Amino acid sequence: MNHRLRRLYNEPNREDIIYFLETSQKDELNALYSFADQIRKQYVGDAVHLRAIIEFSNYCRCGCLYCGINRANTRVQRYRISREEIVSIAADAYKSGYRTVVLQSGEDPTYSIDDYIYIIRKIKKLGDIAITLACGEKEEEEYFYFYSAGADRYLLKHETSDPILYDRLNPGMSLENRIKCLKTLKRIGYQTGSGIMIGLPGQTIESIADDILFFLEMDIDMIGCGPFIPHPDTPLKDSPVGSEELTYRVLAINRIVTRNTLLPATTALSTINEHEGRKLALMRGANVVMPNVTPLKYRQLYEIYPNKKRIEVSSTDMIRDLETQFHQIGRYISHSPGDRYQEDPYIANGHC
Ligand code: 5AD
Repeated sequence: MNHRLRRLYNEPNREDIIYFLETSQKDELNALYSFADQIRKQYVGDAVHLRAIIEFSNYCRCGCLYCGINRANTRVQRYRISREEIVSIAADAYKSGYRTVVLQSGEDPTYSIDDYIYIIRKIKKLGDIAITLACGEKEEEEYFYFYSAGADRYLLKHETSDPILYDRLNPGMSLENRIKCLKTLKRIGYQTGSGIMIGLPGQTIESIADDILFFLEMDIDMIGCGPFIPHPDTPLKDSPVGSEELTYRVLAINRIVTRNTLLPATTALSTINEHEGRKLALMRGANVVMPNVTPLKYRQLYEIYPNKKRIEVSSTDMIRDLETQFHQIGRYISHSPGDRYQEDPYIANGHC
């Protein structure tokens, strides 16, 4: 085996990460992808974990330059889904077969701690279902109450580990606080997710290598990396879209160095390559797919970046369709909530 690939696996280091992010040798790139696929199979098997995303509010107090729902964008029609309706959307997802819901929103302080506790408890009563929250930076006390009420996981992407770029893109926020939140979430006991955008204007290959090392050092459980897609109503509207190939490289390297993590084939990747993006990601290290179950009337208003898919199919049809796609590449849908360290019963029963 390629000596650099073996070293990347045995002793992850900045130099080899940069090398594989940059190499123009086709055979090396193919070796990287197939090794990532092999590691994926060995560490997490052939299961694909589904996460049903519910985008419950597009109000946001942040002014992130890349994001279509940032507070300065007055062209967005804002919405908030009531707590009862959030629970009912989650119940439909559960009935369709999903065993994880991701409750995602802008940073919207309108929902109280009690609202969250109500929603979390009701959803947990549905059965064997995991709840992931993705609602931004909160106080430690809030994270703690949500966890105590039953929330299992929290997604908070750090977006870039370059502090100067972070400051430029996220006015009024700091990378330091972001990292502090991630550490708090881990300490409380959440399975913690992070991630970056690839191709942010001003981002360097070296900083992406640092992002990958950050995931490893922090022992992040879920790592979502997608290409940056410029939104026409943001200050970054004229910046180029992030590279699809670089996104696969980051995914493959993440798999090789972090081994058993949950790595989604991100929606942003399927947006820039509608036909192949998801499949290629699954063949290059990914083991999670996150279908959007937000009712269409809201979903079309949750436009973080343009052209997010807008077709409304029933959740059951969507699962059936995904199952067919996965079978074509030798994969199957997991029927468990899909925790990072959970032994998959399918594998335990010798089906692999
Ligand atoms: N292009 C791609 N991804 C984006 N996100 C926000 N804006 C964009 C964009 N323009 C991602 C960020 C955020 C997640 C919800 O969506 O990584 O954490």
